[in-house]
Amino acid sequence: MKDLRQLADILLDAVHAPIVQMETLGELKAFLLSRTGIKGEGDDHRNDIQTEAGLAIGTEWAARCLDDLSRSVKFMRGVDQAIKDRLRSEPNQPVELLYAGTGPFATLAFPLLSRYTPEQLQLTLVEINEMSFGALKRLFAHPAYSGFVRQLLHADCTKLELPNWDDIDILLSETMQYTLQREHQVPITQYLVPRLRDDVVLIPQEIKVALAALEMVGGGGDWLVTPLSPLLELSKAGLTSSLTSTGAPGTEAAPHELFLPPRAEVKGVLVLTTDIHIYGTEHLGYNESGLTNAKSIHHAGGAAVGRHFKWYYGYTPEPGIVWEMWDSV
Ligand SMILES: C[S@@+](CC[C@H](N)C(=O)[O-])C[C@H]1O[C@@H](n2cnc3c(N)ncnc32)[C@H](O)[C@@H]1O
Repeated sequence: MKDLRQLADILLDAVHAPIVQMETLGELKAFLLSRTGIKGEGDDHRNDIQTEAGLAIGTEWAARCLDDLSRSVKFMRGVDQAIKDRLRSEPNQPVELLYAGTGPFATLAFPLLSRYTPEQLQLTLVEINEMSFGALKRLFAHPAYSGFVRQLLHADCTKLELPNWDDIDILLSETMQYTLQREHQVPITQYLVPRLRDDVVLIPQEIKVALAALEMVGGGGDWLVTPLSPLLELSKAGLTSSLTSTGAPGTEAAPHELFLPPRAEVKGVLVLTTDIHIYGTEHLGYNESGLTNAKSIHHAGGAAVGRHFKWYYGYTPEPGIVWEMWDSV
């Protein structure tokens, strides 16, 4: 059985083959399940929480996030780079990391504890789900990790109160599904970023949702993605769009609108795509992870060009891009 340092080194080092990393992720999960004492699945673990901000996924699904290899290793590497960058500029004080929505394992930061000391890294860990929070508390109760804990909070990050907003150097949150639908990523980012210092590092740095046509080419199951237009970006600047709107971008009161010019060559399905710039050199592009799968929204992509498309980010009946499309008259 490998120790945490050995597991982290394999996951963070890009030279290892995906099969080796997958096995290592399996070992990490076994380690985390045994330390937290949860089964990781079962009816009692399917304890989703629905708030006005959207869905906070239950313990089973949050634990399963770890299994998404590209997501997990790229986020760990991005967080590692951000911690290193901060330590380079401020070597004499610990990096203060706020992890909003940890799940039961704080997966995206936990393996990094083997690479730093509590004098270098302090974590504020926040989780809304009681069972996931209980697991997290047991994990961090171990003397090898308890020194890294600045605060462990069972709270809703869209309403969080912290005594030390100004101390936070890095805000990490992966509370999303592809196309920013259903979960809390947007409201968590919009609530927390304005309360933090201007130079806080947000991870992921930028999430872009765009409109594209997706066509299967050849018989080998290859897909051709034809970008049609950017729609919304989520970053430290909030929810924005590179396309103009009449007011607060992306809200129902000020939807965006564009005309998709006719293009005979564009065929396939009309989709929403998601691209994530995690931090530094770490990106997740089309289909690399469950977070960047395409969402089919209209079965005829080719038929969509030559039409008007209008959109905003809404919360009813659940968070996501609300759109409509119509012909020119
Ligand atoms: C997609 S899971 C990811 C878990 C973990 N960060 C990871 O990457 O493996 C999101 C987690 O955030 C929690 N969460 C979602 N919304 C939250 C909120 N508003 N406040 C605190 N926790 C939240 C969920 O309960 C869930 O455990």
